[in-house]
Amino acid sequence: MANNSNLGAAKAAKNDEFYTQYADIQKEVNAYLEYNPDTFRDKTVLLPCDDPEWSNFTRFFAQNFERLGLKRLISTSYAVESKKYKDYEPTLFETESPLFDMDKTRIKGKIFELTRDTNQNGRIDIDDLEWHYLEGDGDFRSPEVCALRDQADIIVTNPPFSLFREFVAWIINSNKQFLIIGHQGSIGYNEIFPLIQFNKMWLGMGFAGGAGHFISPYEDHAVAGNHKKGMIRVSGVTWFTNIDHGRRHQPMILMSMKDNIRYGKHKDLKESGYRTYDNYDALEVPYSDAIPSDYEGVMGVPITYLDKYCPDQFEIVGITKTKFKLASKIYPEQIQINKDGTKQRVTKLNDGPVLKINNPPANQVYYMVGNEMYIQLYTRILIRKKHNDQAE
Ligand SMILES: C[S@@+](CC[C@H](N)C(=O)[O-])C[C@H]1O[C@@H](n2cnc3c(N)ncnc32)[C@H](O)[C@@H]1O
Repeated sequence: MANNSNLGAAKAAKNDEFYTQYADIQKEVNAYLEYNPDTFRDKTVLLPCDDPEWSNFTRFFAQNFERLGLKRLISTSYAVESKKYKDYEPTLFETESPLFDMDKTRIKGKIFELTRDTNQNGRIDIDDLEWHYLEGDGDFRSPEVCALRDQADIIVTNPPFSLFREFVAWIINSNKQFLIIGHQGSIGYNEIFPLIQFNKMWLGMGFAGGAGHFISPYEDHAVAGNHKKGMIRVSGVTWFTNIDHGRRHQPMILMSMKDNIRYGKHKDLKESGYRTYDNYDALEVPYSDAIPSDYEGVMGVPITYLDKYCPDQFEIVGITKTKFKLASKIYPEQIQINKDGTKQRVTKLNDGPVLKINNPPANQVYYMVGNEMYIQLYTRILIRKKHNDQAE
């Protein structure tokens, strides 16, 4: 069951019913329009994995059809019988339509399309949507929906969390522009990280406080301060895209290493300075705002740095995950010393960046290999300063 921060559990349980709020879609789309008002002009936008009768994606794009200058809007839904969560009543919109079909309503997907002023009131908007049942269940992988993908210029949705990798591959293979919601945790996936590294996909503007609030039928366990009642709060969700926006072109204002140590706000850096990893040839930079402007080598920064990543300023050279094979050293079996002093044999020190320490840390798990002591840090993105002659 999804709770405060538990998208991983939702994914494991294949809980996919999380519906996006209108304001979140509007805020994100506005960021692209600010950078380029013609982002959507004359484009066909496909909204797959949606529930068009009440999806805020369909509502937003249909209501703003003219303002965005769209050519065509297509939205498709997934049949309830194919979903894991089957609590469903057809809407009045469907049952009162001459197209309503009792045999199809639960097993067929639906397609909604907007291209013209059907009610001839002088404007194209949500009231002009036309619909019919799909041949199949609306699975994004079906030939029918793949054909719609191929006709689209831009694909926008919050895809099923449980199929995120597959969904990204589905878009990337088609070479389309996209704007989708996913979890930061997926950045380290084999299939996803190379897209980020080589600037084929980047983060959008994201959700306030790094957490999204979704309308959902699941039980709501959230306790966080900014939790909204009746919604599921999911921390770590963000927007992934290959559409350009302004923030990507704003370099961070940074201090030199010396100034960071002298004037910076991070006590640990002021006290101990910057350190290098024991198993990666890189400098550990624990905070994005403490990236030293004058360091020429590779630096390890938190994954949240990607929210500030400007490809003209830094290049991404890797990630500290074993499977990407950038580590300079492999540790033999280690003894993990837990906070309560208990010990266990492990091999997990290899999956992440490691610092060598001289004394056992207070209140922190550490590792012994022979007589040497180590701590493991969270996954880091490895970056290197870009020089003007390298800028894109
Ligand atoms: C995270 S929800 C988002 C719904 C909607 N896009 C929104 O944000 O309001 C993902 C939706 O995709 C549907 N889904 C699951 N598997 C699917 C598949 N293979 N093809 C199409 N849709 C699927 C789920 O049932 C769910 O309704």
